[in-house]
Amino acid sequence: MAKEKINVFDYAEKINKQIAPGILLNTNCEKFNSMVIGWGHLGVIWGLETFTVYVRDSRFTKKQLDKTGRFTLSMPLDGSYDPEVFRVFGTMSGYDMDKSEYITQVPANVNFVPGIKEYPLTIECEVIYKQRQDPEAIDKQILRKYYSAEETKDDHHTMYIGKIVDAYIIR
Ligand SMILES: Cc1cc2nc3c(=O)[nH]c(=O)nc-3n(C[C@H](O)[C@H](O)[C@H](O)COP(=O)(O)O)c2cc1C
Repeated sequence: MAKEKINVFDYAEKINKQIAPGILLNTNCEKFNSMVIGWGHLGVIWGLETFTVYVRDSRFTKKQLDKTGRFTLSMPLDGSYDPEVFRVFGTMSGYDMDKSEYITQVPANVNFVPGIKEYPLTIECEVIYKQRQDPEAIDKQILRKYYSAEETKDDHHTMYIGKIVDAYIIR
């Protein structure tokens, strides 16, 4: 399987447009796992090209990410997902199931977290900074909207800034 190297910033428009509807955040520790994320951003800090993601305490993804400090992002080139994959990866947890049977893993080049053949735009990252949100510092309206319901109370997000260590399209 060929991997066509890309400069992520050449693909910034394509990537940015896909974030809000959802891209896939893969981790690999006890097992391969992937979840849909709708928050995140491509950027630069400390002179490094980075991708930042936000993961709630309750996610299986967080457990794996905290152990390994490695993640890979996968997204389609045309914005379209298999609806069943998107539903499972966006609502069900690696704590309860093995999601690997839904996709075809492609071994990573650098960070040991596989990409996904069916969603070929791939960004491999290594965490260089993480910080859990300080509830006191969040705008009150946002705090009420995202962190006050019974199931989301105190289930805060941790920000992970990932240094981009490789980026390519699986062909
Ligand atoms: C469109 C969409 C965007 C989402 N964005 C995020 C996100 O940015 N951060 C997060 O923690 N969960 C987000 N989720 C929820 C997770 O995908 C979901 O809880 C998933 O089942 C967690 O899987 P895991 O427990 O295997 O990590 C999103 C879900 C959808 C459908």
